[in-house]
Amino acid sequence: MRLPAHGCFLSSPIYRGIIMSTIAENQDAILKLLKESFAGRVGFPWKEPEDKYLHGIRVAKLGLHLRDIIYPNQKDILCEDTFVVASYFHDICNGQDNHETAGADYAVKLLAPYCSKQELSEVHRLIARHDSRVEKNKSILPEDLKLLQDADILDHIGSYSIWATFSEFAYHHKTPYDYAIQFTDGTFDRFAERFRKKINYPESLAIYEEKISFEIEFAERMLRELNGQPR
Ligand SMILES: [Fe+2]
Ligand SMILES: [Fe+2]
Repeated sequence: MRLPAHGCFLSSPIYRGIIMSTIAENQDAILKLLKESFAGRVGFPWKEPEDKYLHGIRVAKLGLHLRDIIYPNQKDILCEDTFVVASYFHDICNGQDNHETAGADYAVKLLAPYCSKQELSEVHRLIARHDSRVEKNKSILPEDLKLLQDADILDHIGSYSIWATFSEFAYHHKTPYDYAIQFTDGTFDRFAERFRKKINYPESLAIYEEKISFEIEFAERMLRELNGQPR
């Protein structure tokens, strides 16, 4: 499965082997479908028009990076083709109350001409549970789902989080000080704690903590500079 814009060509063993999966055979059509399906779907007015489309692409890449970190020599811990396609489409119904199951049903409907029955069933399984996180007994979740869930959280933290919050605050005519003060009044700590418990793997948690620290350091410096300090 090939990743579009900002992406790379995935070395799926299925794609490179003699037998191509139905997804690999139809990857150009799937990428076109992806772009068209997300066109005009903007969750919030301050978000960029391709926000959810690009989020899906980043989650696919991030999920595979996590796999390579957590399972260094076990590429087949997941099926790349179904994992990538599920990642791409996982938020196709974002904004609806039941966006997991509605999204899974809708994605399968869209993808039906381009995937085998087995692939559709796998894509459905992943999308339908992508937001069903457990804080304890995480071993009950399949590995591919855990990787997708962690990638999904990690994509909301770090530099993109700063950009997204700036955009939201600017839209609501809030000030740079309003942004920075959240990091000293407990607002950001509560946000960070809420997602911290939902991370599945210790390796993902380490990345999460590094991203959280980056955001805190940035805001603390911003607050100092807003108060007229040199740095
Ligand atoms: Fe979601
Ligand atoms: Fe998501």
